Amino acid sequence: MLLRVHGLEKSFKPDLFKPAKKVLKGVGFELPRGSTTGFIGVNGSGKTTSLKCLLGFIFPDAGRFEFDEGRKSFDQFRQSLGYLPERPYFYDFLTAEEFLKFHWDLSGGGAGFQERKKQVLEKVDLATTGDKKLRAFSKGMLQRVGLAQALLRSPELLILDEPMSGLDPDGRWLVKDILREEKSRGTTLFFSSHLLADMEELCDRLLVIEEGQILFEGPQAQFRPEADQSLEKVFSQVRAAHRRGQGSAP
Ligand SMILES: Nc1ncnc2c1ncn2[C@@H]1O[C@H](COP(=O)(O)OP(=O)(O)OP(=O)(O)O)[C@@H](O)[C@H]1O
Ligand SMILES: [Mg+2]
Repeated sequence: MLLRVHGLEKSFKPDLFKPAKKVLKGVGFELPRGSTTGFIGVNGSGKTTSLKCLLGFIFPDAGRFEFDEGRKSFDQFRQSLGYLPERPYFYDFLTAEEFLKFHWDLSGGGAGFQERKKQVLEKVDLATTGDKKLRAFSKGMLQRVGLAQALLRSPELLILDEPMSGLDPDGRWLVKDILREEKSRGTTLFFSSHLLADMEELCDRLLVIEEGQILFEGPQAQFRPEADQSLEKVFSQVRAAHRRGQGSAP
């Protein structure tokens, strides 16, 4: 198992005078090596917060991680991570190549940048625009530069927070193609998306979160046993059943 997450809890205090709100209520899951796991949940259910805890950007109030069956510390593990944030920040005075170099240096620098930069820019179909400033890039092009950044270190685990959001059909197709290629290379993929049809296509496993609690974790075929039922429909049924169980929906 590449990663095990146990009992993550996190509360945020919206402001000084309001009580803290618990947004993760014991989130636990596993990422088997080489699997592609889709992280599904409605807006505000706790996906990005879970990912940020996992990446060490924020500290959970409780919970722990086990990397590579306990063989790696977080510092060792983070070297094999690639991450595309939900809202990447782009310094628009940089060119795509400078942006990648900035991230290369941030993640330890070293030799081999020129070759790797060329490979990832080709992969995201930006080989001819590497020397253009990011301010001239469309949203879809920026998303692709963000993806190139996540792929720069040939990560073992690729974590993507809504990689297809805001892309046109061509852009989505390209991103899905890259994810398929990574998957066939054996990369472990973990990504969130509201585009459930894309999840249906790409993911062998699903992790479903609702109000900071995991509702389902396991193979997609178990979540959606009838192949003719869309993931969207099953997801909505599972949520409705959960709300009924909680006494908060008819
Ligand atoms: N820094 C913060 N301070 C206060 N509240 C926060 C903070 N970050 C997240 N939250 C709250 O935590 C909850 C979960 O947010 P999160 O961003 O994890 O949801 P999400 O599942 O990623 O949603 P989306 O699909 O919209 O991206 C939300 O109610 C959000 O308002
Ligand atoms: Mg989010």
